[in-house]
Amino acid sequence: MCGIVGFVGRDHAKEKIIDGLKRLEYRGYDSAGIALPINGKIEIRKHVGEIKNLEKIIGDADYDSSAGIGHTRWATHGVPSDVNAHPHGNSDNTIAIVHNGIIENYQEIKERLVKEYGITFKSDTDSEVIAHLIGVFYKGDLLEAVNKAVAEMRGAYAVGAIAAAEPDKIVAVRKDAPLVAGIGKGCNFIASDIPALLKYVREVYLIENNETVVLTKDDIKIYDEKGNTVKRDVFHVTWDADAAEKEGYEHFMLKEIHEQPKGIYETLTRRINDDGTINLDGISMTKEDIEGFNKIYIVACGTAYHAGLVGKLIIEKMARVPVEVDIASEFRYRDPFVDENTLFIAISQSGETLDTLAALREARKKGARILSVVNVVGSSVARESDDVFYTWAGPEIAVASTKAYTTQLICMYLIGLYMGSTKGTVDKELYTGMLEELKALPDKVERILQNEEDIAALAKQYHRREQVFFIGRGLDSGVSYEGSLKLKEISYINSFAIAAGELKHGTIALMEEETLVFALATQDFLYEKMVSNVEEIKARGARIVAVAKEGRTEIEKVADQVIYIPDCADEVAPVLAVVPLQIFAYYVARYRGCNIDKPKNLAKSVTVE
Ligand code: M6R
Repeated sequence: MCGIVGFVGRDHAKEKIIDGLKRLEYRGYDSAGIALPINGKIEIRKHVGEIKNLEKIIGDADYDSSAGIGHTRWATHGVPSDVNAHPHGNSDNTIAIVHNGIIENYQEIKERLVKEYGITFKSDTDSEVIAHLIGVFYKGDLLEAVNKAVAEMRGAYAVGAIAAAEPDKIVAVRKDAPLVAGIGKGCNFIASDIPALLKYVREVYLIENNETVVLTKDDIKIYDEKGNTVKRDVFHVTWDADAAEKEGYEHFMLKEIHEQPKGIYETLTRRINDDGTINLDGISMTKEDIEGFNKIYIVACGTAYHAGLVGKLIIEKMARVPVEVDIASEFRYRDPFVDENTLFIAISQSGETLDTLAALREARKKGARILSVVNVVGSSVARESDDVFYTWAGPEIAVASTKAYTTQLICMYLIGLYMGSTKGTVDKELYTGMLEELKALPDKVERILQNEEDIAALAKQYHRREQVFFIGRGLDSGVSYEGSLKLKEISYINSFAIAAGELKHGTIALMEEETLVFALATQDFLYEKMVSNVEEIKARGARIVAVAKEGRTEIEKVADQVIYIPDCADEVAPVLAVVPLQIFAYYVARYRGCNIDKPKNLAKSVTVE
C-alpha cells in the first residue's frame, strides 16, 4: 500500500511528483504529501484526504524545486491525519523520507532514539523512525546514512530519502515493497509503480529486493546489499500510456469493465498458436514436471482467490489432479502439505500482494514448483516464480478488480488445457471444443456490455437495498463470491455469497419477504437443481434476479427478473456470468453516490500483512 514518487532534474519537481502521485492514488488515498529541498532546508507540505486537498495548499509559485519526494498514504500505523501523512522529517527537517510498507521493529528503534538522542516524535507512524535514524547517521553522505538506517530496520519497505545538504540527490531502497527507477533525459525518477512515470519516461530499472538506488539528474546507480554496483537491464515499457487514463469514462472501473473483451483476446491470442497449440514461450515446465505433480495449490487473495475457485474445478476436470485453493493469508500459517511434487499457482493482479508473496516463499521453501498468474510485468510475484502466465489486461487502476479477474480465468483454462493435453486427460475433441469456446468469449462479453443500460436499470431499482445474497452451484458458486465482493467493496452493501445447495443448512433462515437474491444458473448439468434451490427461497418470499444462458427459460417461472448471457459451454460461463454482476455493482455504487474507484478503507495493492 501507499505510493511513493521522487524526481530529480532541473526544475518543476512539484508538478512531476504530484502528477505521479495522482497515478498512484490507487495504492492509498487517505492523505498525501510532498517534500522539496528549498534554500538549504526541506519544506514539507502534507494534508489528510486525497491529493486534490494537498494541491490546494501547495499552489504558491515559491514552493518548487529541482528535486523532491512525494507520498500517497494508506494508513497502517496511526489514523489518517495531517501529522501522520508522509513525508516525515527528522527533528530539524534536514532529512525527509517517504515510506511504503511496515517497519516491524519501529517501537524498539523509537525507544532507543528517544533515550539516546532525546528525539521527540511528531506522528504515530512507524515510518517516522526512518527519518530520525537517517538523521542521526547523516554525516554529509545520504547513501551511507540510509545504509546504516536500513541495517537497523526489520519489515517491508520502499523508502525514498532526501537531504537538505544534498539537494540534487535521492536515495531509495527496497525490501518486499515495489520500487522502480525511471530514466529521463536530464532527470530521473523513482516510483512505486510504472504508471506513475509513464507521462515522462518509457524506460525504467526494476529495483530488486535489498537494493539501494542513488539518483541524480544525470545518473542512476544501483547497489546490492553488500554495496557492490549492480548492472541492470533497462526495462522498456511497451504499454500505451493512455491505458492508465479514463479516456472519457466516468470511472476507471467502468472503463476496465469495457476493456474485458480486449484483455481476454490478448491473454488468449498471446498463448494460442495458429495451429491451435498452446504457446508456452517463457514457460520452462516440462512434460515430466507436469506428470510428476500429485497436488496443486492455488493461492491468492480477494478477487484473485475467486479466480482460483473457478480454476480449481477447471484444472481438476482437465488435468485430473487434486487442486486446493487457499486464501494466501491462511496458507502459510497452517503447515500445508507441500513438497517437490507440488505445483503452487499464485494468482495476483499486482504481483505485490504481501500475503500471496509470503505464501509463495513458504511453498518454495518446501520445494514446490512455482507458477504464477500475474498482470504486472516484472512484479515481485512474477520475479520470484519459476514460470509466469501473464494476464494481458493492461493496467488496472480501479480498486475493484474486473478485467484482471476475467483474464485470470482465461489463464486457468489455458493451464488446465495445457496440463490436460500433456497428460492425455483432455482428448482432442474436448481440446478443440474448448479452444473454440474460449475464442468466442471476447465477442460474447461485448454482447453483454451492450445490455449495460438494462443492468443499470436493475441497479437503479435495487440500489437502496442494504442486504443482497448471491447463490450458485459448481462454477457458479465461485462467481457468486466474486459478484458479492464487487458489490460490497464499492457500494458498502452487506452482501453474502453461498453455494446454493448449502442454503438450507442455515442461511435460508435469513430469507424473508423481498430479500434480494442473485441466483446464478449457468451450469446446464446443475440447472434443474438450481431451479429447485431458487424455488425454496422463492417460497420464503425472496426476490430473485437470475443469471442464465440464452434459451434456458425455465428459470423465468421462479425468478422475478432474468439477465441472459450468450449461450456457451458450462466451463467458460464464469467469464460471461460475472460481467452483469460487475456492471450491477458499478451502477449500484454510482446511484448510492459512492467513491467508486477509491472505496473507503481499501487500496489497490495490499503490501501489508
Ligand atoms: O493484486 P492482487 O490480485 O494480488 O490483489 C488481491 C486482492 O487484494 C484484490 O483482488 C482485492 O480483493 C480487490 N479489491 C477486489 O476487487
